[in-house]
Amino acid sequence: MDQFYIYVTQGGLYVLFLIYLSRWLVDNIYLKEHHNMTTYCSNHINSHSHKCLDHFLNSDSILDSDKDDLSEKLQMDDPSLVYNLRNTLIYSKNPQYIEISKYSKAQFRELFPLLVKSVSNKTNGFFIEFGAGDGIVNSLTLPLEQRFNWTGLLVEADPRFAAHLHRRGRKSLISSTCLGYQPTSFLGLFGINNYGKSKLLTEDWETYHTVEQMTCFPMYTYLLALNRTNIDLVIIDVNDKAVDYLTLPFDKVLIDVIMIKYLNYNDLAFLSNFMEQKNYETVGIKEKNSFIVFKKMK
Ligand SMILES: *[C@@H]1O[C@H](CO)[C@@H](O)[C@H](O)[C@H]1NC(C)=O
Ligand SMILES: *[C@@H]1O[C@H](CO)[C@@H](O)[C@H](O)[C@H]1NC(C)=O
Ligand SMILES: *[C@@H]1O[C@H](CO)[C@@H](O)[C@H](O)[C@H]1NC(C)=O
Ligand SMILES: *[C@@H]1O[C@H](CO)[C@@H](O)[C@H](O)[C@H]1NC(C)=O
Repeated sequence: MDQFYIYVTQGGLYVLFLIYLSRWLVDNIYLKEHHNMTTYCSNHINSHSHKCLDHFLNSDSILDSDKDDLSEKLQMDDPSLVYNLRNTLIYSKNPQYIEISKYSKAQFRELFPLLVKSVSNKTNGFFIEFGAGDGIVNSLTLPLEQRFNWTGLLVEADPRFAAHLHRRGRKSLISSTCLGYQPTSFLGLFGINNYGKSKLLTEDWETYHTVEQMTCFPMYTYLLALNRTNIDLVIIDVNDKAVDYLTLPFDKVLIDVIMIKYLNYNDLAFLSNFMEQKNYETVGIKEKNSFIVFKKMK
């Protein structure tokens, strides 16, 4: 019997040693290299660095463990929050020309002229699109890139769409993260449903096929991560009451045009009131697509 306990104790110590060794290897080699790359890549967000891209695409699990550190609520301008979000900004793996007319649905082709008019035919502008989908079908920013030489940031939390964005070759930055409806970061539940119907959950999450936990960032943190407070166009398509997501400090940013997908007439009334108080006028509503466009008054 004594011999048995000695074996158990020795075995236990051996296992403990292996656990300790693997943790040490992760901390000292894997994570050190990862953090070095993170620092390097966040200082080079404006270059198409494939070294960074490959690193981030291959390190999902590490990024996930980093995300856990952000589950506590951090203020929208918290430097560590901004730093972490900046590290998610990367370019597409295969930049290539995409034939838009083949993909874009007719009703979106109707919406595009309203958008172009709202930005006064501007060329070389900069946009942020929240809820970018797969970046091709129904994308309003793809023709802006191609015909008006715009660039910007595509934000998409649904991992299936985000994978498309990386493959399809948009010219803009991509962030597969979750826009939140609080002025702080928080750990949100993102419900993944039929294509185009996924959303950040507040209740009724039983109806979703898959629910994924992810860190959600306030809108302003995206602007700070880009180091940019002047934006020509922000598009918000979040399958939810958009006004809740407009947690921006409007006195600190200059956004010329804001285009929002609304849910229903109630939502539309809320939005118009809210935006009027922020000194925006309505320049167009397309009922067929449930989009409203606001422009900052001079
Ligand atoms: C960190 O990464 C940069 C860029 O890849 C590299 O030049 C540098 O040697 C690395 N430093 C360490 C300590 O690994
Ligand atoms: C934008 O371009 C269209 C077509 O080229 C033109 O008809 C329109 O007047 C332009 N609008 C502005 C504000 O420049
Ligand atoms: C298009 O935009 C890029 C920057 O994104 C700029 O370098 C280039 O000069 C622009 N081209 C034209 C024709 O304005
Ligand atoms: C942010 O932009 C400003 C001016 O546009 C520049 O001076 C500053 O170095 C930038 N900071 C970072 C971290 O890129």
